[in-house]
Amino acid sequence: LARGVREPDLAGRHVVISAGGTREPLDPVRFLGNRSSGKQGYALARTAAARGARVTLIAANTGLPDPAGVDVVPVGTAVHLREEVLKAATDADAVVMAAAVADFRPAAYASGKIKKKDGKEPDPIVLVRNPDILAELSADRARPGQVVVGFAAETDDVLANGRAKLRRKGCDLLVVNEVGERRTFGSEENEAIVLAADGGETPVPHGPKEALAEIVWDLVTARLT
Ligand code: CTP
Ligand code: CA
Repeated sequence: LARGVREPDLAGRHVVISAGGTREPLDPVRFLGNRSSGKQGYALARTAAARGARVTLIAANTGLPDPAGVDVVPVGTAVHLREEVLKAATDADAVVMAAAVADFRPAAYASGKIKKKDGKEPDPIVLVRNPDILAELSADRARPGQVVVGFAAETDDVLANGRAKLRRKGCDLLVVNEVGERRTFGSEENEAIVLAADGGETPVPHGPKEALAEIVWDLVTARLT
């Protein structure tokens, strides 16, 4: 192999990655969304493909060009994302939930545009919980030994929050980012710590999203059976 070219250590493997942010419609022209750019998920997809994996990328509202050699499945809402991730995960060796999934969606969808009413304040928006896809994937593994990875953006006590979330979700690895005013969302770079269910902690120094992606695949590869 030429210098700088990785060994195809994911050859023969199928990996599923979710990326972007879900949008939960209120009416035909409005939605509740979030600021996830999808860049980390796309970096995971590119690096996995470069390491020989068959890659399915479930892309929620990213607007990014499809990476070469990757099967891209566009989705909109959390419910739609869940459906496509679970379908793709049935024969996957690893599933990485890099998407920002809306925790709540509007309880009702107005089939016509919501209009102002003369002199009246608007009705409140009632929300309901969305399914927790990562917890479901972790609890009901589609195949034995499937590696499940989550992402979390935390503030305050980042490590304690991350450990608690890893246990709550039941995944194998949780990539924890510290977020603040200008950090992570939409940026080209990332800094994180990867927590493992077996107790491992891998700090990832500030750097390109590709570098974090490579470390995620190193940790996944070490756990594949
Ligand atoms: N996730 C998911 N389904 C949801 C919410 C989150 O699969 N309904 C996944 C995300 O893709 C991510 C991980 O769970 O990989 C952690 O997301 P996060 O929002 O940090 O976790 P929550 O359990 O929603 O906790 P919080 O209340 O802090 O938002
Ligand atoms: Ca959440």
